[in-house]
Amino acid sequence: MAPLNRSLALGPVTLRSPLVGASGTVGSAVDFVSVASPDYYGALVAKSVAPEPWVGNPPPRLAPAGAGMLNAVGIQNPGIEAWLAEFGPRLAGVGVPVWGSAVGHGPGGFAEVARGLEDGGVEAVEVNLSCPNLDGHGLIALDPDASARVVEAVRQAVSVPVSAKLSPNASDIVAVAGAVWDAGADWVVIGNTVWGAAIDIESRTPRVAMGSGGYSGPPLKPIALRAVMEVAARIPGLPILGCGGVSRGADVVEYLMAGASAVGIGTVHFAEPRAARRIDRELARWCRSHSVERLSDLVGVALRGVSLP
Ligand SMILES: Cc1cc2nc3c(=O)[nH]c(=O)nc-3n(C[C@H](O)[C@H](O)[C@H](O)COP(=O)(O)O)c2cc1C
Repeated sequence: MAPLNRSLALGPVTLRSPLVGASGTVGSAVDFVSVASPDYYGALVAKSVAPEPWVGNPPPRLAPAGAGMLNAVGIQNPGIEAWLAEFGPRLAGVGVPVWGSAVGHGPGGFAEVARGLEDGGVEAVEVNLSCPNLDGHGLIALDPDASARVVEAVRQAVSVPVSAKLSPNASDIVAVAGAVWDAGADWVVIGNTVWGAAIDIESRTPRVAMGSGGYSGPPLKPIALRAVMEVAARIPGLPILGCGGVSRGADVVEYLMAGASAVGIGTVHFAEPRAARRIDRELARWCRSHSVERLSDLVGVALRGVSLP
């Protein structure tokens, strides 16, 4: 059998591998590759950056919760200027495309960061919409119109591909996905963490100081997968990067079958920084044993004949 063809198209981008290091779990990407080989990734997404430095939330900010992880880091970052000074000159030597992740409190801030990231040499900009919406209530990612305004501003600010990272907490994620696609996103990332909480029953206090945080890891997979399937079924042609709870090769197969064209891996890195190599091998083994020669042949196969509620 011919070696597995891992190449996949994600909108205007061709990835050499479906595995994408998820934002916030591979640092700046620049330092991550001194720990793990870049060879198993199609891209690495750097930690989200804001227009100004954000100090993040008070500790404790991370806690195990069931089979997953709770984080309330609060997108601590040095701001775009300091980020560019520290990492910009080294982005080209990472050995895999680095995508930047922009965050802000409104369209202008996102656009400013995106412009800086592009000038610094990132090959795509991910718009992290899981951020409080200063114009209204809750997260930007919950609101189709607010999400579209941010993506439109970023689209106008840069010429590299733009993606929008959505929240599985959105009550109508199809509406948000459609709005950001209309606003110029080249693909959507589904998705970020879901809100969660855990209590230390001995101290009678929440396990993260903020009280609640973003829940990630294996328990997130069925939730994110449902959202991927729904968006793939309802908006044919919109490229999707699935993300949430991937820790094994079989998880990647599931996301591709659900309609994703690439798969983010995040929390697994904390216990196993070199997980991508193992996941890649498991994926290749599964494909060999099922006579799959091209990963692209798997995209969306589970959607045929499915009618979602
Ligand atoms: C500690 C931590 C920090 C994160 N920081 C970011 C971030 O800065 N920007 C972002 O878009 N997502 C961030 N995420 C979300 C991940 O990129 C990913 O979408 C989420 O964890 C689900 O995937 P997973 O289950 O594979 O971890 C973070 C996740 C964790 C666990």
